[in-house]
Amino acid sequence: MCGIVAYIGNKPAYPILIKGLRRLEYRGYDSAGIAIMNGDLNIYKIKGKVDDLENFVAGKDVQGTMGIGHTRWATHGEPNNINAHPHLSGNGRLAIIHNGIIENYNTLKEILIKNGHSFSSETDTEVLVHFIEEIQNKYELSLEEAVRKALSSVIGAYAIVIIDKDDPNKIVAARKGSPLVVGLGDDEFFLASDATPIVEYTKKVIYLNDEEIVSIDRNNFEIRTIANIPRTPEIKEVDIEVEALEKGGFDHFMLKEIYQQPDSVSDGMRGRLNAAEGWIKLGGIEEFEERFKKAKRLIIVACGTSWHAGLIAEYLIEELARLPVEVEYASEFRYRNPILGEEDVVIALSQSGETADTIAALELAKFKGALIYGIVNVVGSSISRLTNAGSYIHAGPEIGVASTKAFTGQLTLLTLIALYLGKSRGMLGKSQYQKMLYELQEIPDKIRQVLKQNDQIKYIAGEMKDTNNAIYLGRGFNFPIALEGALKLKEISYIHAEGYPAAEMKHGPIALIDEKMPVVVIATNKNAYEKVVSNVQEIKARKGIVIAIVAEGDTVIKDLADFCIEIPETADPLSPLLSVIPLQLLSYHIAVMRGCNVDQPRNLAKSVTVE
Ligand code: G6P
Repeated sequence: MCGIVAYIGNKPAYPILIKGLRRLEYRGYDSAGIAIMNGDLNIYKIKGKVDDLENFVAGKDVQGTMGIGHTRWATHGEPNNINAHPHLSGNGRLAIIHNGIIENYNTLKEILIKNGHSFSSETDTEVLVHFIEEIQNKYELSLEEAVRKALSSVIGAYAIVIIDKDDPNKIVAARKGSPLVVGLGDDEFFLASDATPIVEYTKKVIYLNDEEIVSIDRNNFEIRTIANIPRTPEIKEVDIEVEALEKGGFDHFMLKEIYQQPDSVSDGMRGRLNAAEGWIKLGGIEEFEERFKKAKRLIIVACGTSWHAGLIAEYLIEELARLPVEVEYASEFRYRNPILGEEDVVIALSQSGETADTIAALELAKFKGALIYGIVNVVGSSISRLTNAGSYIHAGPEIGVASTKAFTGQLTLLTLIALYLGKSRGMLGKSQYQKMLYELQEIPDKIRQVLKQNDQIKYIAGEMKDTNNAIYLGRGFNFPIALEGALKLKEISYIHAEGYPAAEMKHGPIALIDEKMPVVVIATNKNAYEKVVSNVQEIKARKGIVIAIVAEGDTVIKDLADFCIEIPETADPLSPLLSVIPLQLLSYHIAVMRGCNVDQPRNLAKSVTVE
């Protein structure tokens, strides 16, 4: 989605803005632009990447110590130079950047047109800045007063940053529904969609809350609500090192993140699991132990890859804790008038903690009295602040748009939760519990072993790269991994792929199988192994190409399949943590071989802040 960065201080703004926009590149975008105050307002914007913007700006005037920068992910109007941000007010005084959607922009536009305004872009953002201008002129208000008054008539979601040529020492920013972070340096301030562009300058940040407006001059800042109530800011320390935002010698962030998984899974368990002493500690759940105990079911809401982690949690929690679980697409859940009450616990899964649909689902659940629990990766994100309790994944920044280490981080936590609840609900025998703790503790090393097969996986990728379609099959705990494997391939290589429960193949997808169809079968299950063998035979009987993920030492499927990737033995409930790794690598290599932009796949965004 859109990325926002802004600077006010005593250093040249341009390099900070460009570097900041690069840090935000991972969010996904189609155009980029900046406005720098230097007596006059210099605005440069262009369809394309930050590189295109830099080339366009080369040799032009970028002097100034205050400015705003934006990467746009188109909602209203196609990606082109005119629709790119920043947008100017009619009188050329105000420049704005915006993330989100102004829902009543049409109504506002009609009023403004009647008052003589004309618009050059198709965006809701240009309407907003004209509206602020209208109010500023009509009531002779300062910039922050005009923004406050205008926003009280605005319906929708926004993070905005706005500057005024006639007030060249001030930046005003506001948020509702879209994230915005203020960075506090020494006599300098930063604003950004997330902390990544800020951390190399300062670790002190304020996460703005909904309906808050911050007004910053060169020495000071003030936060007030749209209703003009002053707010005492809560200053937080961000724990992100700059190295975590670099590729660190890897060709792509996605590859780096795949390879980080032994460590990120281990970080997710640190201080939460001790097999030798036989305990799991999960602060968030312990705090609401009674609510979890009373819950008749858990409802998991999520989108995309996080939703797949939720599906595995359904298998995990029902198997290990015998507690019913429902898994919902957040976007469907919120609009279908779900039956919810105080006895329910709703768990949101989200890497970014900013996904608009997931936030809306949680707000609904909160409104209906359910306990809301968040499992997120980004510290300080909206979901982490909205929920009653939660657990961070601690996977570190995930920059590749296609989620990898955040997914295994979510699975790690969900496994811990399933085991914790299994024990506290008396559903797991002591020895079974103990055995699972040891097995879980060994997972990071086993991921390391899977990664050693990269060359074999790359070879298989070479064989698969020219296909137009692929089918992924799995059973039980590995059915959602089939969905996730197919999603990874679609997202980054643009190959059409579908995941199915293996047994469902005969109810439709089998019609697609011929000698050109690669079928990736996750065949590590001890439970129902024979059934998977039959599925593989059915595919081979129709000349399909079988790529099988099998447990070490497998001989039966190895004989049948065209290609095999072995993963270490583990307990069935933990096998998704291993079986997903080769599928991530497979997609990665195929995408690279097809010349795709792995880290920033077309049309996708890392953090989906619009509904
Ligand atoms: C986007 C991303 C996916 C991600 C999904 C949910 O679509 O491209 O990789 O799985 O959002 O994001 P979340 O941050 O809520 O996990």
